[in-house]
Amino acid sequence: MRETYPSRVYHRSNRVHELTPEERTVHDGLDPARMPHHIAIIMDGNGRWAGKRSLKRFLGHQQGAECVQYVVETASRIDLPWLTLYAFSLENNLRRPRNEVNFLMKLLRTYLVSNVKRMNDNNIRVAYIGRTHELPAEVQDTMQWAAEQTARNTGTTLTLALNYGARSEIVDAARTLVHNLMAEAHQRGISVEDMLAAEGADDAIKNRIDEPQLSAHLYTAQMPDPDLVIRTSGEQRISNFLLWQIAYAEIFVTDRLWPDFRGIHLLEAIADYQQRERRFGGLGESSDEALSETLPSASETPAELLPR
Ligand code: FPP
Repeated sequence: MRETYPSRVYHRSNRVHELTPEERTVHDGLDPARMPHHIAIIMDGNGRWAGKRSLKRFLGHQQGAECVQYVVETASRIDLPWLTLYAFSLENNLRRPRNEVNFLMKLLRTYLVSNVKRMNDNNIRVAYIGRTHELPAEVQDTMQWAAEQTARNTGTTLTLALNYGARSEIVDAARTLVHNLMAEAHQRGISVEDMLAAEGADDAIKNRIDEPQLSAHLYTAQMPDPDLVIRTSGEQRISNFLLWQIAYAEIFVTDRLWPDFRGIHLLEAIADYQQRERRFGGLGESSDEALSETLPSASETPAELLPR
């Protein structure tokens, strides 16, 4: 589990009355005490949605972009503090035809420009994760503008993962840790080796490079880990998305293609999530001492299994 927790103040809006009647029905069945704080979605199936209708792939993406706003607004009405969407992976950038990548970039800009007012009306803040500095300059400008326009909002944070890859995120965090070490040594006028040796090299490395430190240098440093990951269109894989952060997340896969996904499906995924027992590597709530007592005592344990 991550130890860093968001410092930003989240304001509840109490806007469930704005849900559709169908959404209200599902929402009324949810346990308010067990709502996820962070949901991350792998939006997949735009191409298949278009293919099923004999449409060009780009129309699938266009419909997919429409759904983003529906889902984001439902998230804000149910007071979900964090929603992270996998909008464009590093691999999409490298492996998709240039004209598709250019179309996705254009779609992103159009989406941001057309929805900033709605974001503000819904108190939604927009943020990004990924190697966004590698995106075209005009895309970065629009992204920055949308982030600034919505920065003061205190409801749902919508994080778009753009040019994002989880492995490269971990690599970037490791590089930052090394850079920080070098900068500190430089400032103190000694070599990194001498600086670490002065603290006892092994201990110094353990103290300076551990899970909380690495977490604190991920793009998601200010966010809680996702409780629930949703993947649309049926593929049972994670596709290099938030690998570190989803260590204990629940995973919900639906066959529904992303362009057919709406707020009600978000609520249904939450209902499914609430049926799960989260254990975080422990025994979980339904276990009791009786279960532990089923473990063999030391005298009953075969000698070869006892600690030496
Ligand atoms: C996968 O569809 C989806 C993506 C490439 C990323 C998601 C993009 C959008 C929803 C559109 C734009 C987003 C924003 C935020 C405006 P796919 O092409 O891989 O589908 P397929 O697997 O059926 O071919």
